[in-house]
Amino acid sequence: MIVPLQQAIRLIKSGDIVAIPTETVYGLAADAKNISAIQKTFQTKGRPLDNPLIVHISDTSQAMDIARELSDDFYALAKAFWPGPLTMVLNKKNDVPDAVTAGLDTVAIRMPDHPLTLKLIQETCPVTAPSANPSGKPSPTKAQHVLDDFNGSVPVLDGGISEIGLESTVLNLTSLEPQIIRPGAITPEMIEKILHKPVSYSTHSDSVKKSPGTRYSHYKPNAEVQLLPDLPSQFDSKTYYILHSGLKPGSSRNIHTCSGDFTKLARDLYDHFRTADHLGYKKILIESLPNRSNHPLQKALENRILKATTEI
Ligand code: TXA
Ligand code: MG
Repeated sequence: MIVPLQQAIRLIKSGDIVAIPTETVYGLAADAKNISAIQKTFQTKGRPLDNPLIVHISDTSQAMDIARELSDDFYALAKAFWPGPLTMVLNKKNDVPDAVTAGLDTVAIRMPDHPLTLKLIQETCPVTAPSANPSGKPSPTKAQHVLDDFNGSVPVLDGGISEIGLESTVLNLTSLEPQIIRPGAITPEMIEKILHKPVSYSTHSDSVKKSPGTRYSHYKPNAEVQLLPDLPSQFDSKTYYILHSGLKPGSSRNIHTCSGDFTKLARDLYDHFRTADHLGYKKILIESLPNRSNHPLQKALENRILKATTEI
């Protein structure tokens, strides 16, 4: 059911969960201090209990109640990128429930860039919000996706289409050198410009240790996803194609191109996955991205597409 802002506020205050719009993907919000509301989030998603949640705030000062030893780097990045698609992993305060952090001594925090959700947090409290999809499936980028995923049983605050369409960059600020655990719209280069120090991607084994979520399968539609090394000369009517080259396929329901617009590809990727499933396609072929497009979303797109194609 779609709910207005005032009702969403009442639901959060009374310990219920509500799907909320953000600029990245829709999240499943719960009061970050209410353990039973947080447990409801895990149950609803079927999420493994050892996968920690991001706490969403509406004002940088709220981070002081959640994390300790906030560094100059934290404040510089918050100033540069919040509200926006950057999640920072920090040392947590003792009273942050273990249910939020899955027992880790770190906590992930971000300020989402969506007016309705910022208002909701202002009127209530910081909220935990994993992506509002059943665990392992593609994230929702529209209110209708959330309604479809949970058969209308989860109340949704409709804030339109998520502008970016891929989840936030997760940056670990507790390691010796800042490390990106999950690529997103904020790139290492953008962060380096603010911090004046190198930022690296964490290795897979490091990520699994520090961010259990990276161990699980993610972003997968029901259809099998494969990469296309080159554009095919013929198209199979039983396959759903997601392409980026300039090809103009006409009005075909199974051949889609973003015509080189990677911002559009990112915004539409999960919607394509869902549409393919909805229409009953068993196979999705995605044209491999060019090696170096210099587009800020390149790494994030490659990461989500790879995860959708692999078996882990
Ligand atoms: O864009 C987003 O980040 C969306 C919107 C709703 O804000 N949220 C989202 O949440 O993608 P979720 O739960 O689907 O992904 C959170 C990721 C997981 O990979 C999790 O393991 C990682 O962040 N994470 C959370 N807390 C962490 C921590 N303390 N240390 C390391 N990784 C953490
Ligand atoms: Mg998720």
